[in-house]
Amino acid sequence: MKIDILSIFPEMFSGPLDTSIIKRAQENGIVHIAIHNIRDYSKNKHKKVDDYPYGGGAGMVMKPEPIFDALESIGYNEKTEIILLTPQGEQFTQSIAEELAQKEHLIFICGHYEGIDYRVYEYFNPREISIGDYVLTGGELPAMVITDAVVRLLPGSIGKEESHKNDSFQNGLLEHPHYTRPKEYRGMQVPPVLLSGNHGEIEKWRLEKSIEITKKKRPDLYKKYQEKININTKE
Ligand code: ADE
Repeated sequence: MKIDILSIFPEMFSGPLDTSIIKRAQENGIVHIAIHNIRDYSKNKHKKVDDYPYGGGAGMVMKPEPIFDALESIGYNEKTEIILLTPQGEQFTQSIAEELAQKEHLIFICGHYEGIDYRVYEYFNPREISIGDYVLTGGELPAMVITDAVVRLLPGSIGKEESHKNDSFQNGLLEHPHYTRPKEYRGMQVPPVLLSGNHGEIEKWRLEKSIEITKKKRPDLYKKYQEKININTKE
């Protein structure tokens, strides 16, 4: 997969995407991530990328030309998903991450200021995605969040396929508790079933705990899970 990220603060990306699983995925050729400075595409002598809004009002608007030029220089085709990070977009979820993980090429446009000249929307018809109902200073952190969630899903990114199977949300439930050595710590014991070696019982315990935790922490997800189970048992 190739991921191109357009930003006016490219320096924000060094570090988070050069660490751990995302770093290894790049080194192993699973993903190629390129960060592009939108200012490099500004023809203005001061490298200006924003301007006052027509019609007046507070705040600045990102100019169309550098974004058009950046996208055209990077190149895109029908296999490219162009994504604009904005609080007005559809809310990012695990299932959107799974959908994006199937694509060959993603381009993220990190918005700033009051917004982006509307002609970018008209011409490129980008998919607008938000990472939550709060306003950040720009689309850089959301682009990193989505990149992280997508890249870890690419085949080969994470050692064992197993690690995905147990992900929270993968089956519509939150994860069950995990324990490692020692068996007893400050008087707290590892549940005996996990030491039993009985895989059937262990799976059963894990599912029960996942259900219990989801019901308590995320009743909204639990409700959806119950509906799914009911549909499956009726079929
Ligand atoms: N830009 C500013 N806030 C954002 C958010 N919550 N999600 C995506 N992009 C944003």
